[in-house]
Amino acid sequence: MDIIFYHPKANVDSWLQKLKQALPLARIRQWTEGDNHRADYALVWNPPVEVLRQREALKAVFVLGAGVDGILDKLKQCPDMLAKDVALYRLEDTGMAQQMQEYAVSQVLHWFRRFDDYQMQKIAGQWQPLPEYSHQEFTIGVMGAGVLGKKVAESLTIWGFPVRSWSRSKKAFQGITSYAGDDQLAAFLADTRVLINLLPNTPETKGILNKERLNQLAEGAYVLNLARGAHLIESDLLAALTSGKIKAAMLDVFATEPLPADSPLWGHPRIAITPHIAAMTHPSEAIAFIVETISIIEQGKEAGGKVSIIRGY
Ligand code: NAP
Ligand code: GLV
Repeated sequence: MDIIFYHPKANVDSWLQKLKQALPLARIRQWTEGDNHRADYALVWNPPVEVLRQREALKAVFVLGAGVDGILDKLKQCPDMLAKDVALYRLEDTGMAQQMQEYAVSQVLHWFRRFDDYQMQKIAGQWQPLPEYSHQEFTIGVMGAGVLGKKVAESLTIWGFPVRSWSRSKKAFQGITSYAGDDQLAAFLADTRVLINLLPNTPETKGILNKERLNQLAEGAYVLNLARGAHLIESDLLAALTSGKIKAAMLDVFATEPLPADSPLWGHPRIAITPHIAAMTHPSEAIAFIVETISIIEQGKEAGGKVSIIRGY
């Protein structure tokens, strides 16, 4: 079995070493320009079209992350990048759910215990206990109830917050109120005090966090964007912060990454920023998932993590 690997930012030697240990019988190589030799599987992140185009033996492509918007955008521009019968897989969890849980729980508790307000008071040299927030007024709304959204929602119920989710199809998760489809979006947003975005970036969800939707949230709501920058209209968020509709936001992803030095988001006192690190791909867990999935594919069975190109996630 021949496997090609392409990742513009990863430590390629370390990946190749781990892959060779996990698949000792496979021939595994880094893709370099001009390489159009046989490949049964391709493991890629943000690949040039040439990595995948015109590969007759190719059975499947593994995207080395959870989101597939990058590769699907490229496929739209170059439809011959991938033959129709080549399956596209993405990483399901592989350690990302726990990272998302850590990120979301720590930030929700930070806002709930008013540490943002106390930090402002500290800067102003003010000693002033503030009224406590109650769990009942802190409804958490998780947009996207998939592999990551479900786990994040579950981890917040443990702290006693009312938790709801919004997805395409209705869910029956214990302790979480499920809203589904465009018809129930307004009901989901109403009374949501902390909005956590874990949707995939698709034509339906692009720009979904806009002025209209932000205005439907509870007064003084908080926004946590953990999915993609394309979901959020940044100027609408800034306007909602100025009006007080939104009290604060924490953003891990941005319309342009790295966030440009002149972005007004940098200097805003109520916006916290991390550089797209909410959930990183951990090679060992990712490789375990890929090895298992290849073994299922080789047995001619349906494996988890298969992307629907039509649906866009
Ligand atoms: P997933 O398992 O595919 O879940 C996607 C969820 O979104 C599903 O619940 C799906 O509904 C829902 N959804 C999709 N389109 C919708 C629509 N039009 N309306 C309502 N709901 C919709 O994805 P995941 O593994 O949880 O990952 C989610 C996203 O997180 C990724 O796509 C990626 O962009 C982002 N991410 C970010 C980082 C980071 O470091 N910041 C790391 C990893 C992932 P159904 O359940 O009904 O299908
Ligand atoms: C990271 O953003 C991912 O989609 O895995």
